[in-house]
Amino acid sequence: MSETLLQDMAASLKGRDFLGLVDYKPEEIRYLIDLAIDLKKKQKAGDSHQPLKGKTLGMIFEKSSTRTRVSFEVGMYQLGGHALFLSKNDLQLGRGETIWDTAQTMSRYLDGIMIRTYAHRTVIDLARGATVPVINGLTDRSHPCQALADYQTVLEKKGKLEGLKIAYIGDGNNMVHSLMMGAAKLGLHMAVASPEGYDPDQEVVKNSRENAALTGGSLLLTRDPKEAIADADVVYTDVWASMGFEAEQKEREIAFASYQVNEELARYAKKDYLFMHCLPAHRGEEVSEGVLEGPNSIIFDQAENRLHAQKAVMAALMG
Ligand code: CP
Ligand code: NVA
Repeated sequence: MSETLLQDMAASLKGRDFLGLVDYKPEEIRYLIDLAIDLKKKQKAGDSHQPLKGKTLGMIFEKSSTRTRVSFEVGMYQLGGHALFLSKNDLQLGRGETIWDTAQTMSRYLDGIMIRTYAHRTVIDLARGATVPVINGLTDRSHPCQALADYQTVLEKKGKLEGLKIAYIGDGNNMVHSLMMGAAKLGLHMAVASPEGYDPDQEVVKNSRENAALTGGSLLLTRDPKEAIADADVVYTDVWASMGFEAEQKEREIAFASYQVNEELARYAKKDYLFMHCLPAHRGEEVSEGVLEGPNSIIFDQAENRLHAQKAVMAALMG
């Protein structure tokens, strides 16, 4: 990217929300990935880079988290700022204060708000009420920070994104929605295999296909895991019962029984395929121990890149 283009990009991202990859142009996503790689280099070299000195991020959590919580807090610290962990139950939000009043109030203290919640509507309403950038740290609909870090990881490992094939085997959940939109915007071919009743959202599918048509990517939906995984460069799966769906665990185990990513299924992928999982994983359910721990697995590189990708998002939006 030329120097002027980089400056334009930085100006266009400043002050924005990060609610979903759908709101970002392909070149903006690529800019964030490149920035993440650059920030990672700086951190590994021990170079201090503190564009968010004196700034504070509020982190509202309505669901559990290991990676998101730790990586946002550490990321903010490394960028020179500070992060506040706010459990919904300890906020007046948990006692019925409106999202609007919460957003307005918090904007008077904070420079950015990260939220992990159930209904995607909550994130949209928070962003509407807030005058500072709002970052989606996972909703029932999407998980864009994870997908951004994942495509950074694929780029680092494969040296390119365009034209690669990513297969997702499992539940049509928040994770696959963000991966589909990312693949479409970045020009990857994606194949999704899920059992009947657990398909990805139709609107996200349609929107992803429209975006894929602009970048040379594609999106295939199938019931057949072998068809999805055939010749894949990247194989991705996620839990069968996401947070909030724990009560369906037993019926889901039955529905997803033939959708486990294991050594037998992985034989159909390319020899040098990458195995990815956003984590936390359930060994012996959506993925076999052998694949999760095997030589193709890059799950902890993915987890690490949450830190670098989110630092890029925060630096770009809040800097
Ligand atoms: N992948 C991910 O978002 O992990 P946490 O739920 O631990 O934050
Ligand atoms: N789909 C999973 C992702 C966890 C990071 C969930 O929502 O629980």
